[in-house]
Amino acid sequence: MPIQFHNLKVATVRQVTATAVQIGFKIPENKKEIFQFEPGQYLTISLTINGEKVRRAYSICSATHEPTINILVKRIDQGLVSNYLNDEIKVGNTFDVLPPNGHFKLTLKEQGQRQYFFFGAGSGITPLMSMIGSILESEPQTVCHLLYGNRDEDNILFQRKLDRLQLVYKNRFKLNYLLSRPKKIQPKGMFSFLQSPTVSWTGATGRVDKKSIATFIKNNTTQNTPVDGYFICGPNPMIEATYENLLNLQIEKDLIHREYFTAPVSSEEIIASTDREQINATVKVKLDGQEIDLQITDSTNIVQALLDKNIEPPYSCLSGTCSTCMAKLVEGEVVMDVSIGLEDDEKEDGYILTCQAHPLTEKVTIEYP
Ligand SMILES: Cc1cc2nc3c(=O)[nH]c(=O)nc-3n(C[C@H](O)[C@H](O)[C@H](O)COP(=O)(O)OP(=O)(O)OC[C@H]3O[C@@H](n4cnc5c(N)ncnc54)[C@H](O)[C@@H]3O)c2cc1C
Ligand code: FES
Repeated sequence: MPIQFHNLKVATVRQVTATAVQIGFKIPENKKEIFQFEPGQYLTISLTINGEKVRRAYSICSATHEPTINILVKRIDQGLVSNYLNDEIKVGNTFDVLPPNGHFKLTLKEQGQRQYFFFGAGSGITPLMSMIGSILESEPQTVCHLLYGNRDEDNILFQRKLDRLQLVYKNRFKLNYLLSRPKKIQPKGMFSFLQSPTVSWTGATGRVDKKSIATFIKNNTTQNTPVDGYFICGPNPMIEATYENLLNLQIEKDLIHREYFTAPVSSEEIIASTDREQINATVKVKLDGQEIDLQITDSTNIVQALLDKNIEPPYSCLSGTCSTCMAKLVEGEVVMDVSIGLEDDEKEDGYILTCQAHPLTEKVTIEYP
């Protein structure tokens, strides 16, 4: 069955902070099954801005039991879609949306006792929010620990919701905020200029780094309860540092899961990819029961070569992070600019990200799932 967009209506719009808007989609009864999701997954929305058709991925931030599927969009400096949505979105607007997708997810299990650790920074809280809310509601014995870093009080996303969850699930939700630069308030009054600014934040300060991660794990681990996963989402340097620190704490690699919103700026693979020799390649693509032959003679990737032929393969971020464009390499060899969106076992099973893949052999055959 081909991957299809579905037209969804915006049911709620909420300005969460000065630079972030939450958008809720009401899912019609006949699409409920298609839009069922596992906590941590994302939606891809397609829109046309100034005549340009674009797609972007946004993690679902609502829990599985909530009445709308919510996403949160944070403004990015010079960002096309994030600013457009923050400025223009209104209740009643409709968007073409792909069904939920993504590997950064957990499967809810009603039975058993387990604990999870979550590490978020900035808008990286979105998929974690869905995971935590869903677990607390559906897994009566599971404990969630969250370390959530932000610059200051004004940038904490979902603070009210998080505080409420902590009140309701006192014994099962351990919430740890961390601010790198809490706000300083200048005292008011006649001689206030003589007084130093005061800080009203009484919580922890610092960054999500080696020290705070070690303290967080040490203070929070519930003895004799298995840890089912460590989930990380935030800016790329935060993800990489947290991952390394968890490995250094002897945490099993398979238990650590990362979600990147953007691809790393430089990677050895990009260099390897641009340094390669150009070849004339025939790429056979199996997509939705069709077989398409492409000729690739330059640095075009497979998704772009398909789009150039007016064929729409599955894709979303086009940056190698989301894995919507994943396909199986059946014959030949390719090189990928970025492959962060693939799990190790997917790479071993021969999957590639077609938005990042360039042929290395004259014949290549790929098959979309
Ligand atoms: C799986 C996945 C889930 C995502 N979930 C969310 C989410 O829940 N909330 C959310 O706000 N965004 C999320 N994103 C990011 C989102 O898809 C867009 O990339 C983001 O909104 C910027 O799009 P734009 O059109 O505004 O910026 P663009 O016009 O595409 O980019 C403008 C500039 O900003 C840089 N840039 C793009 N994205 C970022 C970023 N996240 N941080 C720093 N610089 C950036 C680009 O490199 C470029 O230089 C997710 C991305 C992926 C792949
Ligand atoms: S489209 Fe997101 S990884 Fe290729």
